[in-house]
Amino acid sequence: MDEFEMLIRAVPDFPQPGVVFRDVTPLLADAGAFARCIDALAEPWLGEGVRAVCGIESRGFIFGAALAQKLDAGFVPLRKPGKLPPPVVGIDYALEYGHDRLEVRSDALVRGERALLIDDVLATGGTLAAAQALLERLGVELVGAAVVIELEALAGRARWQGKAPLRALLRY
Ligand code: PRP
Ligand code: HPA
Repeated sequence: MDEFEMLIRAVPDFPQPGVVFRDVTPLLADAGAFARCIDALAEPWLGEGVRAVCGIESRGFIFGAALAQKLDAGFVPLRKPGKLPPPVVGIDYALEYGHDRLEVRSDALVRGERALLIDDVLATGGTLAAAQALLERLGVELVGAAVVIELEALAGRARWQGKAPLRALLRY
């Protein structure tokens, strides 16, 4: 088991029976491991000319802000509905039960700007796919996406469109 895996707690039956929740907060609380995690997330994108790191609420903000600093890029939050003041653009997407929405400031990104998406967990892939579609609607050049954890059994990767790489640090 590697250093990061040892600091990710598996919590059975949370938030619902049958789900094994991967809790990243012990990793965040370890100064050295958190710094090395950000280094590892950044490494494939160094020299790729990333100008904006777009983090998905809420745990994508934690990794995304640190990653933006490492890549010398700005940070753009993709938020749940009703949190950002106008002007915003948003996208609705389906969850297993119900739906959700992501919004971004419509003037936060310039057309053609090189952007990177970041989130903590890729599960069914609905959130990341919605974020990808939203950014493409704004005309940015999406260089790829980074997640800390990919839950392979949920096959979320299949929903990622196109050739830009989707990189996961850990797979379960
Ligand atoms: C979790 C996780 C991802 C998303 C992944 O966020 O942080 O954003 O679910 O799920 P998917 O691949 O099935 O779409 P959550 O909605 O729990 O929000 P939070 O980060 O605010 O807790
Ligand atoms: N951990 C954190 N977030 C999640 C998970 C998980 O196991 N599954 C879906 N979102």
